[in-house]
Amino acid sequence: MAYTVRKFDAVIVGAGGAGLRAAIQLSESGYKTAVITKVFPTRSHTVAAQGGVAASLGNSEEDHWHWHMYDTVKGSDWLGDQDAIEFMCRKANECVIELEHYGMPFDRTDAGKIYQRPFGGHMSNFGEKPVRRSCAAADRTGHAMLHAMYQRNVKANTQFFVEWMALDLVRDSEGEVLGVTAMDMETGEIVVFQAKATIFATGGSGRIYYSSTNAFINTGDGLGMAARAGIPLEDMEFWQFHPTGVAGAGVLITEGVRGEGGILRNAQGERFMERYAPNAKDLASRDVVSRAMVTEINEGRGCGPNKDFVLLDITHLDPATIMKRLPGIREIAIQFAGVDCIKEPIPVVPTCHYQMGGIPTNYSGQVVVPGKRSQNEIVPGFYAAGECACASVHGANRLGTNSLLDLLVFGKSAGETAVETLKQSPKAHKDLPQGEIDRALARVNRLNTQTGGTNVHETRLDMQRTMQKHAGVFRFADLLQQGVDKIKQVEEQVRQTEIKDKSMVFNTARIEALELDNLIEVAVSTMVSAEARKESRGAHVRSDCADSAEFPDGRNDKDWLKHSLWYKEGNRLDYKSVKLTPLTVETIALKKRAY
Ligand code: FUM
Repeated sequence: MAYTVRKFDAVIVGAGGAGLRAAIQLSESGYKTAVITKVFPTRSHTVAAQGGVAASLGNSEEDHWHWHMYDTVKGSDWLGDQDAIEFMCRKANECVIELEHYGMPFDRTDAGKIYQRPFGGHMSNFGEKPVRRSCAAADRTGHAMLHAMYQRNVKANTQFFVEWMALDLVRDSEGEVLGVTAMDMETGEIVVFQAKATIFATGGSGRIYYSSTNAFINTGDGLGMAARAGIPLEDMEFWQFHPTGVAGAGVLITEGVRGEGGILRNAQGERFMERYAPNAKDLASRDVVSRAMVTEINEGRGCGPNKDFVLLDITHLDPATIMKRLPGIREIAIQFAGVDCIKEPIPVVPTCHYQMGGIPTNYSGQVVVPGKRSQNEIVPGFYAAGECACASVHGANRLGTNSLLDLLVFGKSAGETAVETLKQSPKAHKDLPQGEIDRALARVNRLNTQTGGTNVHETRLDMQRTMQKHAGVFRFADLLQQGVDKIKQVEEQVRQTEIKDKSMVFNTARIEALELDNLIEVAVSTMVSAEARKESRGAHVRSDCADSAEFPDGRNDKDWLKHSLWYKEGNRLDYKSVKLTPLTVETIALKKRAY
C-alpha cells in the first residue's frame, strides 16, 4: 500500500484539551509540531465538559492544594499515585491562571475574581464540608477552554491535520516510538508522521458502553494503538458512571447543577442522598451517588411508568441563577428530556462517563512500562496525557472537574518533558522500521479486501450491550465471567468485519471499522481486568466482595492495593505497586471512605 512520509519534531494525536495544551508548549518553544485530529479542534470531546476545572484558588472561601490532594486520594479510594496527585494539585492554580491569561472567559465573582462552585467530593480542611473549588465559565467550561487554547496554538503556528485518523504507532526494535501512521479521511491517503516526540491525547473510550455521555468520536484510538504496539493498559476495570445523564438520551447534566443547589429525589420526593452520604449528601463523590441512585431504582423507588430513573430538582433555585450559571443545562433539559428545569425536575440515570485507566505514564507525561530494571521504565519518544493516559491521579474513582485539570497539568507536563528531551538530544530522525509500517497498514489492507465478513454496526452493538450488562455500575462474579467469554466472541467478530463500500473518499464506514478495532481492545481489557479484581474499590463494586469487618466496603488493601496492567499479547494481566509516597508531604494514610 502506498504512503508518504512527513517529518516533524513532535506529533500529537488528538486536539482536545490535553493535545492543545501540549502543542502550545512545543510550538511556543519553536518545535515543528503536528496535531492530528478526527474533528476540528474546538469540536473535540473536551467541549462537552460543563461544570468547571478544579483549582484551590480560594476565591470565595479558604482553600489549599493539600486539601485538594487529600480529596483526590480519598476519591481515588487510595488507588491513585500520591506523587502524581500532589504534582497535579500543586500545579492547578498556575495552569488555571495561565488559561485566564490566554483569554479564557471565566465567570466572575463580584470582586472580579474567577467564579468557583462546589463539586462532588471537593471539601475543605481534609474532608470537613463542601468547598467552592471548581472554576467555571457558566456550564460551558470545556467549550471556552478549547477556544482559548486553539487560538493560542494558531498564534504559535501549530500545524493542524483536521479530519485525519491515526492508525498505529511506529515503534522500532529497541522499543523507541518514532511516530504514527495516519489516514486523511477526505482522500484515504496514508502518511507516516515521523517525529522525535509522539504524544497521545486521544481522550476516552466511553463508546464501549451502550449508554454514554461520550461523543461518537471517543473510540479509544490511543489505547488501541498502544495495546497493539505492546504497551499494557492500566486499571481498565475502573469506569466512572456520571450520576446525571438524561434518562433515555445519556446526555450529560453537569454535577455543577448540584453544586448550585440541585437535589436528587426519588419517586416519593425524598432527598435520598441524606441516607447514603449524611455529610456531603448530593455532593458525595460520583461512584457513591451513582450507586445510591441505582439502589433506589432497584428497590422500587424509581420514577416514571417503569420506575427506572430519579429526578434532579432545581425548581427551588432562582430562575435568574439558572439562566446565568446553567443556561446550557436548561437547553439540554428542554431538548433531550422535554422539561423546562425552571418549572419541572429533570429525569436522570447514571451513564458511562469516564475511564479512570489508560496508557501508563509518570507525572512528567512519559509512557512507562515494567522492564528489567523497574516497574516504570520510560518508553523513549512516547508521551500521553488526558483521559487516554493513566498518571494515575484518579485511581479507582475520579472527582468531578479533576479531568479538565488533569488534561491541563499533564498536557503541559508532557509538552515540557518533550521540549526538554528534544533540547538535550537534538538528534536526526532515526530510520523507519519497514516491518512496523507494514503491520500498521495490514489493518487497512484487510478491510480493503475482506468479503463475507461481519457487520460493523451490529458487532459494535454486541460489544456495547455486553459491556453494559456485564460490567456496569454494580458488578457480579457470574456476569463478569460470562462477560469475558462473550467479549472474546465479539472480539472474533471484530477481526472479520467487512465494509461493503471500499471507496477512498470520505468513507466513514472504513473509519468506523478502524475505530471498532480500537474499541474492542478497550472492552476486552476492561472485562478481563474487572473479572480478575476480587474486591470492591471506587467505581468497581462487586456483589461478592461486600462490606465486612475484615474488608470495610469490600476493599481489600492486603491483596489488591495494586494497579492492573493488561497486555493484548496473550490477553494477560500483570500488576504493579501504587505509589503511596507523595513528593513533599506525608502519605495520606489508608482509611475507610465516608462522605
Ligand atoms: O459534571 C460535569 O460537569 C462533568 C465534569 C467532569 O466530568 O469533570
